[in-house]
Amino acid sequence: MIVSFGNMKGGVGKTTVCVNLAAALAETGKRVLLLDFDPQGNATHWLREANDGSRLHRCLSKGGQIYNLVVKSKVPNLDLIPCGEDVEATEHALTALAMAIASRDSDEPVPYEEHPAYLLRRLLQTGAEDQWDYIFIDCRPSIAQLVVNALAASDAVIIVTEPTGLSRTMTDKFLSKVVEVREAVAPDLILGGLIVNRQFAERECAAEKLRLTFDYGSLVFDAKIGDHMIMRRASTGHKWNAVVRYAPKSEAATEYRTLAEEFIERANRRFTFEPTFLDGD
Ligand SMILES: Nc1ncnc2c1ncn2[C@@H]1O[C@H](COP(=O)(O)OP(=O)(O)OP(=O)(O)O)[C@@H](O)[C@H]1O
Ligand SMILES: [Mg+2]
Repeated sequence: MIVSFGNMKGGVGKTTVCVNLAAALAETGKRVLLLDFDPQGNATHWLREANDGSRLHRCLSKGGQIYNLVVKSKVPNLDLIPCGEDVEATEHALTALAMAIASRDSDEPVPYEEHPAYLLRRLLQTGAEDQWDYIFIDCRPSIAQLVVNALAASDAVIIVTEPTGLSRTMTDKFLSKVVEVREAVAPDLILGGLIVNRQFAERECAAEKLRLTFDYGSLVFDAKIGDHMIMRRASTGHKWNAVVRYAPKSEAATEYRTLAEEFIERANRRFTFEPTFLDGD
């Protein structure tokens, strides 16, 4: 199953959740591939000493096989496709192509092999998806072409958010963009749910989580992910690593193991809920 992690809002913890959930799943024996699809390369930084992300850009621009991109991460069972800043050039090239298509006179559908929304999907199809239980895609904070590609290549999208009013507004906006993308290029995309990161102790946080639950119901994951200094430490210094490895006995590591259990349970039923928000119910 291929799952994208996104939000238009920057800094809400998309990468932190994607990396640490992937590592917690890998710890249970699941085989996970994390595709870093953000030219910032933050997921790559979490999981590798070196950044050899330029291969992804070369492969996207010149063609190639997914196997040539996969490297081992610091976490057993967790493979990685690193991303470097040159993938920004892919974003520009895809944007130019999408604009050219939008301004055509013809109504002829663009063939799948040439469609700019399916570049990543075509690349993922060059490898055996069943080699991994889950393929996670860490998206940049936007809804531009790289994210459209990630959504069009995914079975499900998970929105990572924080319990603040601003994040809620951006989550609503991101979701309506996801609906547009789904209608245009990803008809089978499932909304996998909302993971609320950095749930701090104050009353305002509880109220925000309640509002999210009111708006999105059971789409909101139950697992609590607190605000922990250890999460910042785990991605800095000399020994950075996913928190289940960096501080296996910490509260944060325990929370990620609980999140992993909930993720598996939800993924096993293909994130099915009633009503399905993406159908506009
Ligand atoms: N639960 C947490 N507790 C404490 N700090 C956290 C937590 N989650 C994330 N952070 C910190 O918040 C910062 C932003 O996190 P992260 O990079 O995951 O966000 P992002 O949404 O991926 O950002 P971007 O939009 O730039 O891709 C990082 O410094 C990270 O260490
Ligand atoms: Mg990120």
